[in-house]
Amino acid sequence: MIKHLKVPESEAQNAKDFLDSIGALNTDFLPFKEHGSILWPLNFDVEGELVEMDGIPVTKESRDYRIKLPEEIKDVAPRAFDIFGEIAIIKLPEAIHEYSESIASALIQSNPNVTKAAMDLGVKGPYRVRELNLIGGEPGFVTTHKENGLKFKLDISKVYFSPRLAMERQRLSKLVESGERVLDAFAGAAPFSIILAKSGGKITAVDANPESERWAKENFDLNHIPKSSYEFICSRVEDIVESLGEYDRIIMNNPTKSLDYVHLLTPLVRKGGMIHIYCILPDNQKDEILSTFGYEFELTQMRIVHPYSPATSMMVFDMKKS
Ligand SMILES: C[S@@+](CC[C@H](N)C(=O)[O-])C[C@H]1O[C@@H](n2cnc3c(N)ncnc32)[C@H](O)[C@@H]1O
Repeated sequence: MIKHLKVPESEAQNAKDFLDSIGALNTDFLPFKEHGSILWPLNFDVEGELVEMDGIPVTKESRDYRIKLPEEIKDVAPRAFDIFGEIAIIKLPEAIHEYSESIASALIQSNPNVTKAAMDLGVKGPYRVRELNLIGGEPGFVTTHKENGLKFKLDISKVYFSPRLAMERQRLSKLVESGERVLDAFAGAAPFSIILAKSGGKITAVDANPESERWAKENFDLNHIPKSSYEFICSRVEDIVESLGEYDRIIMNNPTKSLDYVHLLTPLVRKGGMIHIYCILPDNQKDEILSTFGYEFELTQMRIVHPYSPATSMMVFDMKKS
């Protein structure tokens, strides 16, 4: 028998963070969800409502939401999905759309912080907004997502955000030096801008989507970034490029279109400065990047950020101006 701390679902994440910070969270067992409460397995007693029960050991299978699905779709439902705040986001093949309610309920039951599930119908339009179809839980797509010790609150159906870029954001934050001038050219709700501001960067964030401006400003505040460390410009970058200054570092994260903006933004980086450009390309294909940037730039690093389709990946290239 294992002791569990019982907390209301609304306090699940805070309780988990607290238990984790004092070493009390028993990670050999899974949390348990029942009637609006979460039970976190413990290594030792803490203050609060403690419930003794058989623990659910963590195994590869026990983490898989598909064990809770009807037999006929267990093997065809996708294993992979994203979690953004309290929302599970999953792509479903059309053949199993009729099972979307069962899939939503299995996702919610298997993931302690998840209260709703949405079918991902793809990222669309110039603002790269994800079309979502709610398949379980209460309506509404505003939620707060935690990443690298920061908080991002936004409506995921109105502004772009990808939890899959967390490691990439952390990587860039380690490269930034205090006082660096950074241009985040396609900033969205400002996840790159904010982690780079935390590392001492002076940020100019640009995005054309008015919803990006709304949530980016909220997130700068939520993460206590002083107003002196950033400016947000709501505009297409091509319309204001002439009013921008010189930068030590530029982030170009608009992967389906980044290459179209290279000629416009390369003059803005100082000699010795860096551009991080994100593109969808066949794996390890760098020729197009090298030819677009030209002889003035040296490729210092490239990596696959995540797979995008069977034949392509989201890649990042670090380009240094000589
Ligand atoms: C793939 S999202 C990246 C957002 C953000 N960097 C992130 O990691 O969450 C691309 C963003 O570029 C913005 N965008 C598209 N075209 C733009 C343009 N011409 N000028 C400025 N922003 C643009 C979209 O609104 C969208 O928020």
